[in-house]
Amino acid sequence: MELKLLYLLLVLSFLGVDAAVFTLQNRCGNTVWPGIQGGEGKAPLMNGKGTCLTGDCGGNLECSGAGGAPPSTLAEFTLDSPVDYYDISLVDGYNMPVSIIPLGVSSSCKTSRCLSDINQACPEGLQVRKNRRVVACKSACLAFNTPEYCCTGEYSNPQTCRPSNYSNVFKDSCPLAYTYAYDDPSSLFTCEGADYLIRFC
Ligand SMILES: *[C@@H]1O[C@H](CO)[C@@H](O)[C@H](O)[C@H]1NC(C)=O
Repeated sequence: MELKLLYLLLVLSFLGVDAAVFTLQNRCGNTVWPGIQGGEGKAPLMNGKGTCLTGDCGGNLECSGAGGAPPSTLAEFTLDSPVDYYDISLVDGYNMPVSIIPLGVSSSCKTSRCLSDINQACPEGLQVRKNRRVVACKSACLAFNTPEYCCTGEYSNPQTCRPSNYSNVFKDSCPLAYTYAYDDPSSLFTCEGADYLIRFC
Protein backbone atom coordinates (compact mmCIF):
# COMPACT_ATOMS: atom_id res chain seq x y z
CA MET A 1 0.00 0.00 0.00
CA GLU A 2 1.32 3.39 -0.91
CA LEU A 3 2.12 5.66 1.96
CA LYS A 4 0.38 8.91 1.27
CA LEU A 5 1.03 12.53 1.71
CA LEU A 6 3.70 13.47 4.08
CA TYR A 7 3.67 17.17 4.40
CA LEU A 8 6.17 19.87 4.88
CA LEU A 9 5.66 23.50 5.49
CA LEU A 10 7.66 26.22 3.87
CA VAL A 11 7.55 29.46 5.72
CA LEU A 12 8.32 32.33 3.40
CA SER A 13 8.65 35.90 4.51
CA PHE A 14 8.98 38.21 1.56
CA LEU A 15 10.16 41.49 2.93
CA GLY A 16 11.32 43.04 -0.31
CA VAL A 17 11.19 42.49 -4.02
CA ASP A 18 13.18 39.40 -4.77
CA ALA A 19 13.41 37.45 -7.98
CA ALA A 20 14.48 34.27 -6.17
CA VAL A 21 13.19 31.12 -7.85
CA PHE A 22 12.23 28.19 -5.62
CA THR A 23 12.45 24.71 -7.09
CA LEU A 24 10.96 21.78 -5.19
CA GLN A 25 12.19 18.24 -5.74
CA ASN A 26 10.83 15.06 -4.17
CA ARG A 27 13.28 12.19 -3.84
CA CYS A 28 11.21 10.35 -1.24
CA GLY A 29 9.39 7.11 -2.04
CA ASN A 30 6.07 8.66 -1.07
CA THR A 31 3.95 11.59 -2.17
CA VAL A 32 4.81 14.96 -0.65
CA TRP A 33 2.53 17.97 -0.64
CA PRO A 34 4.65 20.98 0.19
CA GLY A 35 2.61 23.37 2.31
CA ILE A 36 3.64 26.90 1.47
CA GLN A 37 2.89 29.57 3.99
CA GLY A 38 3.62 33.19 3.13
CA GLY A 39 4.55 35.82 5.65
CA GLU A 40 1.74 37.70 7.36
CA GLY A 41 -0.52 39.59 4.97
CA LYS A 42 0.87 37.91 1.87
CA ALA A 43 -1.30 36.35 -0.81
CA PRO A 44 -1.48 32.54 -1.03
CA LEU A 45 1.09 31.02 -3.35
CA MET A 46 -0.77 27.82 -4.02
CA ASN A 47 -4.24 26.39 -3.63
CA GLY A 48 -5.78 22.98 -3.50
CA LYS A 49 -7.22 20.26 -1.29
CA GLY A 50 -5.56 17.23 0.20
CA THR A 51 -5.28 15.41 3.50
CA CYS A 52 -1.86 14.51 4.78
CA LEU A 53 -0.56 11.85 7.13
CA THR A 54 1.29 14.54 9.10
CA GLY A 55 1.58 18.31 9.02
CA ASP A 56 -1.92 18.84 7.67
CA CYS A 57 -3.67 22.21 7.76
CA GLY A 58 -7.31 21.25 7.69
CA GLY A 59 -7.32 19.51 4.32
CA ASN A 60 -6.00 22.55 2.43
CA LEU A 61 -2.68 22.73 0.66
CA GLU A 62 -2.53 26.49 1.20
CA CYS A 63 -2.50 27.05 4.94
CA SER A 64 -3.73 30.67 4.70
CA GLY A 65 -1.30 31.80 7.35
CA ALA A 66 -2.43 29.19 9.86
CA GLY A 67 0.56 26.86 9.65
CA GLY A 68 0.35 23.10 9.31
CA ALA A 69 -0.28 21.00 12.39
CA PRO A 70 3.06 20.24 14.03
CA PRO A 71 5.15 18.19 14.17
CA SER A 72 6.46 18.96 10.71
CA THR A 73 9.87 19.85 9.34
CA LEU A 74 10.00 23.51 8.34
CA ALA A 75 12.12 25.17 5.65
CA GLU A 76 12.10 28.85 6.58
CA PHE A 77 13.15 31.83 4.48
CA THR A 78 13.35 35.56 5.03
CA LEU A 79 14.34 37.17 1.76
CA ASP A 80 16.15 40.46 1.11
CA SER A 81 16.54 41.50 4.69
CA PRO A 82 18.94 42.81 3.32
CA VAL A 83 20.39 39.36 2.54
CA ASP A 84 18.41 36.12 2.52
CA TYR A 85 18.19 34.12 5.75
CA TYR A 86 17.18 30.48 5.66
CA ASP A 87 17.05 27.54 8.00
CA ILE A 88 15.52 24.15 8.62
CA SER A 89 13.52 24.16 11.84
CA LEU A 90 12.68 21.19 14.05
CA VAL A 91 11.65 23.49 16.89
CA ASP A 92 8.11 22.07 16.79
CA GLY A 93 9.26 18.65 15.64
CA TYR A 94 10.08 16.66 12.53
CA ASN A 95 8.24 14.62 9.94
CA MET A 96 10.54 14.19 6.96
CA PRO A 97 14.06 14.86 5.59
CA VAL A 98 14.72 18.07 3.69
CA SER A 99 17.61 20.09 2.25
CA ILE A 100 17.83 23.74 1.23
CA ILE A 101 20.37 24.15 -1.57
CA PRO A 102 21.29 27.66 -2.82
CA LEU A 103 21.72 27.76 -6.60
CA GLY A 104 23.57 30.07 -8.94
CA VAL A 105 25.85 31.57 -6.31
CA SER A 106 29.35 31.03 -5.03
CA SER A 107 30.17 28.37 -2.46
CA SER A 108 29.96 30.92 0.35
CA CYS A 109 26.22 30.14 0.40
CA LYS A 110 25.92 26.87 2.29
CA THR A 111 23.48 24.01 1.92
CA SER A 112 21.42 23.28 5.00
CA ARG A 113 20.17 19.77 5.33
CA CYS A 114 18.39 17.40 7.66
CA LEU A 115 18.59 14.04 5.93
CA SER A 116 18.39 11.63 8.87
CA ASP A 117 15.18 9.77 9.52
CA ILE A 118 14.55 11.14 13.01
CA ASN A 119 11.30 9.15 13.17
CA GLN A 120 13.53 6.09 13.70
CA ALA A 121 15.44 7.76 16.55
CA CYS A 122 12.41 9.45 18.12
CA PRO A 123 12.20 9.02 21.93
CA GLU A 124 9.12 7.19 23.22
CA GLY A 125 7.27 10.25 24.61
CA LEU A 126 7.67 12.25 21.40
CA GLN A 127 6.48 9.72 18.81
CA VAL A 128 3.46 10.30 16.58
CA ARG A 129 2.18 6.95 15.29
CA LYS A 130 -0.18 6.01 12.47
CA ASN A 131 -0.94 2.33 12.03
CA ARG A 132 1.76 1.65 14.65
CA ARG A 133 4.44 3.27 12.47
CA VAL A 134 6.23 6.38 13.76
CA VAL A 135 5.34 9.03 11.14
CA ALA A 136 6.54 12.15 12.96
CA CYS A 137 8.46 13.19 16.05
CA LYS A 138 7.37 15.99 18.37
CA SER A 139 9.80 18.39 19.93
CA ALA A 140 9.92 18.38 23.74
CA CYS A 141 8.23 21.81 23.67
CA LEU A 142 5.33 20.45 21.64
CA ALA A 143 5.05 17.28 23.73
CA PHE A 144 5.50 18.71 27.26
CA ASN A 145 4.85 22.45 26.78
CA THR A 146 7.09 23.65 29.63
CA PRO A 147 8.84 27.06 29.73
CA GLU A 148 12.20 25.26 29.88
CA TYR A 149 11.63 23.30 26.66
CA CYS A 150 9.72 26.12 24.90
CA CYS A 151 12.10 28.97 25.84
CA THR A 152 9.33 31.06 27.38
CA GLY A 153 9.02 32.90 30.71
CA GLU A 154 12.32 33.00 32.58
CA TYR A 155 13.79 30.82 29.81
CA SER A 156 13.05 33.32 27.02
CA ASN A 157 16.64 34.27 26.26
CA PRO A 158 19.72 32.49 24.93
CA GLN A 159 21.45 32.50 28.34
CA THR A 160 18.74 30.56 30.17
CA CYS A 161 17.26 28.51 27.32
CA ARG A 162 19.69 25.66 26.78
CA PRO A 163 19.65 22.49 24.70
CA SER A 164 17.90 19.61 26.46
CA ASN A 165 18.42 15.88 26.39
CA TYR A 166 15.46 15.84 23.98
CA SER A 167 16.69 18.60 21.63
CA ASN A 168 20.06 16.81 21.58
CA VAL A 169 18.41 13.77 20.01
CA PHE A 170 17.41 16.01 17.07
CA LYS A 171 20.77 17.78 17.00
CA ASP A 172 22.70 14.51 16.89
CA SER A 173 20.71 13.50 13.79
CA CYS A 174 20.56 16.90 12.13
CA PRO A 175 23.39 19.18 13.32
CA LEU A 176 22.48 21.96 10.86
CA ALA A 177 18.82 22.29 11.89
CA TYR A 178 17.22 24.40 14.61
CA THR A 179 16.33 22.09 17.47
CA TYR A 180 15.26 24.70 20.03
CA ALA A 181 14.47 28.41 19.85
CA TYR A 182 17.99 29.80 20.39
CA ASP A 183 19.87 27.30 18.27
CA ASP A 184 20.96 30.12 15.89
CA PRO A 185 24.77 29.83 15.69
CA SER A 186 24.78 26.44 13.98
CA SER A 187 21.44 26.68 12.20
CA LEU A 188 20.84 30.07 10.61
CA PHE A 189 22.25 30.56 7.10
CA THR A 190 22.62 33.64 4.92
CA CYS A 191 23.03 34.15 1.21
CA GLU A 192 22.65 36.90 -1.34
CA GLY A 193 21.11 36.72 -4.79
CA ALA A 194 20.49 32.97 -4.88
CA ASP A 195 17.74 30.77 -6.18
CA TYR A 196 16.87 27.82 -3.93
CA LEU A 197 16.31 24.13 -4.42
CA ILE A 198 14.24 22.54 -1.66
CA ARG A 199 14.69 18.81 -1.80
CA PHE A 200 12.65 16.24 0.12
CA CYS A 201 14.75 13.21 1.16
C1 LIG B 1 15.41 13.48 29.57
O1 LIG B 1 15.50 13.78 30.95
C2 LIG B 1 14.29 13.57 31.66
C3 LIG B 1 14.47 14.12 33.07
O2 LIG B 1 15.71 13.77 33.58
C4 LIG B 1 13.96 12.07 31.62
O3 LIG B 1 12.74 11.81 32.30
C5 LIG B 1 13.80 11.65 30.16
O4 LIG B 1 13.60 10.25 30.07
C6 LIG B 1 15.05 12.01 29.36
N1 LIG B 1 14.76 11.76 27.95
C7 LIG B 1 15.68 11.33 27.09
C8 LIG B 1 15.23 11.17 25.68
O5 LIG B 1 16.83 11.09 27.39
